[in-house]
Amino acid sequence: MPLVSMRQLLDEAAKGGYGVGAFNVNDMEQIQAIMMAAKETKSPVIVQASRGARQFAEDLYLFRLIQAAAELNPEIPIAMHQDHGNSYETCKSAIDLGYTSVMMDGSLKADGKTPASFDENVEVTRKVVEYAHERGVTVEGEIGVLGGVEDGHGAGGSGLDHITDPDQAVEFAEKTGVDALAIAIGTSHGAYKFTKKPDGSVLKMDVLLAIHKRLPNTHLVMHGSSSVPKDLQDIINKYGGNLKETWGVPVEEIQLGIRNGVRKINVDTDNRLAITGAIRKVFAETPEKFDPRDYLKPAREAMKKVVAQRMVEFGQAGHAGDYSPVSIEQIAKGYKDGSLSTQPLVTAK
Ligand code: G3H
Ligand code: 13P
Ligand code: ZN
Repeated sequence: MPLVSMRQLLDEAAKGGYGVGAFNVNDMEQIQAIMMAAKETKSPVIVQASRGARQFAEDLYLFRLIQAAAELNPEIPIAMHQDHGNSYETCKSAIDLGYTSVMMDGSLKADGKTPASFDENVEVTRKVVEYAHERGVTVEGEIGVLGGVEDGHGAGGSGLDHITDPDQAVEFAEKTGVDALAIAIGTSHGAYKFTKKPDGSVLKMDVLLAIHKRLPNTHLVMHGSSSVPKDLQDIINKYGGNLKETWGVPVEEIQLGIRNGVRKINVDTDNRLAITGAIRKVFAETPEKFDPRDYLKPAREAMKKVVAQRMVEFGQAGHAGDYSPVSIEQIAKGYKDGSLSTQPLVTAK
């Protein structure tokens, strides 16, 4: 099946009351791991590439691999998404290449570090929405700022520094016409999210509930949603790694989010941990091995296991065959004729 619009995936997820994992990729083995998991669990899936990933893989290699994944797995709806686009130009280049979805992360300036003003964020996001929707491509925006830094991208600091203001979330959704809205509720990118096991109060789930109440039909996105499982940390440390004790986002909190409007859940770190642990194990236990397949195969298998587990936990498992893909051209018509209007339903406080 051709790559499908992320908007279609999220609309279907909203109808079915489940979430869809968005998993980051940089290479063939990660794409294969995701597709093996999607096939096994019969899941629709969002595959996403950061700017760093596109650069690492020389863009076209990665995109052709995604096209191969779609061709080899015709029964799986796949949306290809630009993660954390830092500018109009970055988003445009992804759209021109054939990505079916982009994130314009205008919460930060184009340097990917400095928090932007509300007006700057609205302006650049609105511009991306215009270009994308004319071509049937989905847009995710971000209001509020996540913590942490990945690959030079991020404001740094704690996830609690710039929590989304629900009033601004409403105004942002109205002014930009985004299809999906990433909100900051205390999560951050990377392995070091929390220094103790987070209880229910650490994540600002009350903010999420307030936003969902006011924007009941808007697809919400949770970034920084790796759970950083202890067993994956332990494998890395057992085989010579040096991770400090850390906690991620409990899956139960994500599931609470899914019951309250969260439709896209971003996961990268858990897969990085799984891959690294599996490779370290082979290196430590069989130092005589040097064929990359001897460690890339277990690494791919370890990532597949994590992704399949998340697919079941997020509820997308079993939904791959629920719907037929709508072409990107048809989606573009929907934006034009208003049937896919992105003006959000806003309810009183
Ligand atoms: O946004 C964070 C993702 O984990 C991607 O990270 O920019 O290091 O590829 P990256
Ligand atoms: P994690 O670092 O928690 O996996 O978050 C990934 C992410 O939000 C990618 O955009
Ligand atoms: Zn993110």
